[in-house]
Amino acid sequence: CGIIGYAGHRPAVPVVIEGLRRLEYRGYDSAGVAFVQNRELNTVRAEGKLAALEERLAGCPNTVATTGMGHTRWATHGVPAERNAHPHKSNDGSLAIVHNGIIENYQELKNDLLAKGYVFHSETDTEVLANLIAEGRKHTATTLDAFAWALRQAHGAYAVALTTPEEPDVLYAARLSAPLILGVGTGENFVASDIPAFLPYTRDVVFLEDGELVRLDAHSWKVMRIADLSAVDKPVHHIQWDMQAAQKGGYKHFMLKEIFEQPKVVTDCLAGRVDWAREEVTLPELAALPVPKRLHIVACGTSLHAGMWGKHLLESWAKVPVSVEIASEFRYRDILLDPEDMVLVISQSGETADTLAGLRIAREKGVKVAGLCNVVGSSIAREADAVIYTQAGPEISVASTKAMCSQMVLLTLLALYWGRRKATLADDVRHEALSALRKLPGQLESALPGMRDEAQQLARTYSKARSFFYLGRGHCFPLALEGALKLKEISYIHAEGYASGEMKHGPIALIDPEFPTFALALADDLFPKVKSNIEEVQARRGKVIALTNPGVEVRVDNPWVVPAAWGPLAAFIALPALQLFSYEAADYLGKDVDQPRNLAKSVTVE
Ligand code: G6P
Repeated sequence: CGIIGYAGHRPAVPVVIEGLRRLEYRGYDSAGVAFVQNRELNTVRAEGKLAALEERLAGCPNTVATTGMGHTRWATHGVPAERNAHPHKSNDGSLAIVHNGIIENYQELKNDLLAKGYVFHSETDTEVLANLIAEGRKHTATTLDAFAWALRQAHGAYAVALTTPEEPDVLYAARLSAPLILGVGTGENFVASDIPAFLPYTRDVVFLEDGELVRLDAHSWKVMRIADLSAVDKPVHHIQWDMQAAQKGGYKHFMLKEIFEQPKVVTDCLAGRVDWAREEVTLPELAALPVPKRLHIVACGTSLHAGMWGKHLLESWAKVPVSVEIASEFRYRDILLDPEDMVLVISQSGETADTLAGLRIAREKGVKVAGLCNVVGSSIAREADAVIYTQAGPEISVASTKAMCSQMVLLTLLALYWGRRKATLADDVRHEALSALRKLPGQLESALPGMRDEAQQLARTYSKARSFFYLGRGHCFPLALEGALKLKEISYIHAEGYASGEMKHGPIALIDPEFPTFALALADDLFPKVKSNIEEVQARRGKVIALTNPGVEVRVDNPWVVPAAWGPLAAFIALPALQLFSYEAADYLGKDVDQPRNLAKSVTVE
């Protein structure tokens, strides 16, 4: 998922390919370019890495076009394959587009276009948009008008760039909830989904906002509103970033960038899955499968913790009994599965060996397997009976952050979806849950900067500790496990996640003034119980950080108040606090945050 467009004086194709190479860190599984030569629109695409695309291009006659665009695709739906790679042309060959994001109402738009006789060669929403623009061109005066006309009908998220033989030296681009940046050079202009794409050529940039569209050629650029094509005055910023900083969007580490992406992750996970007016969740991926009698969640690491958290919602809203299994244990146990059960494997990468083995065992036993994955076309996604994609975008930091957030959103939606199908879910719970989900991105967006400051302070005070306890109850117990895992993974401080009430059965013996506790003390029914567990720690002179919500009275060394959210959804705000605390501790201690020792992003061996 990277876009670059170039309009200038150099041969465009090499500039575009180099730009795509500098976006490689974002991850991709196919790539393509488009350019106009002799008034003819050319697109060249290939599955796999850029080398495969370059091989294809080597077979093409020398390209002298000085305007062109390219795309690397990280599949969010539609398998990685050349037919799904961008650019996509309209049926009449009058234009090509590249696109990041999701057009939520593409099926509806596609049906209209099918009825008008359009044919589709891919499974993508992008091809629908390309043809919609071509359709618009039939009754508008210019390509610009047609582009804006089509975009006004597309709901969802997009960064899109367009080229047409009608105006061979011009590019158009627009954005809504997906990044798009204009690079202003001398005798050349760029548009890209991220700054590194054009950094060797210019540091002067214009940040496009949602609902804006730009027309650019070698010598000029103009930003307009999609709504009415009125001009927008945009400041040009001069950035000082070097290449490394630019890839991380100005953040010091990918992990920090990914933590801060969580508001967008929530929005993207919800996209197209909730009918807000009717307060209904749709998960078409699961429509053909019955609601299981029992659900076995199988996963590893952070994904396991997401599963443990989801169990609480699935049992209470959908009344489906859930067991959560460590994949490496599940695969070697004489597991009892009933044909009416379902196994849900959760895996960001979709390649974790133990999780994949769990899936295969379940399928051999004749049980339906659903996969909750981030990487489209991964082994788990391919082998599961049904797959739900988390749509969180590529996660680069080894320590998983935004992926867990996306898995939790999907588990919440699953509990609502099955709860509705089984009629076990009270209307008011559904209403509260959906309103809370809808508010989450905004809440997270405004809370994250302050949370980071607080995490920084606390990390300074506590990162000399050699050991930490993380305590939580109910749905906060999995969060305690995750908080401890994050701290271990990247700061190498020993940490144990424990169920608050279980601590007195042994671990409490460890508590002393040098052994601090991070308690999850959110405003919920279990708070009084958590409070007494905190007091037990304090009675042994243990220091306590309590993550809590406004209005909760908790006397500890360091109360850390974060905004509340309805019911178990408070977890979505607690999670980044845990992530930020471990991030700041690791950074303070000078550890290699994105690439911790001994760990791998995806563990494909047993
Ligand atoms: C590795 C990673 C963890 C991750 C786990 C499961 O251990 O370092 O961050 O949670 O694998 O990965 P998956 O891709 O299956 O979610």
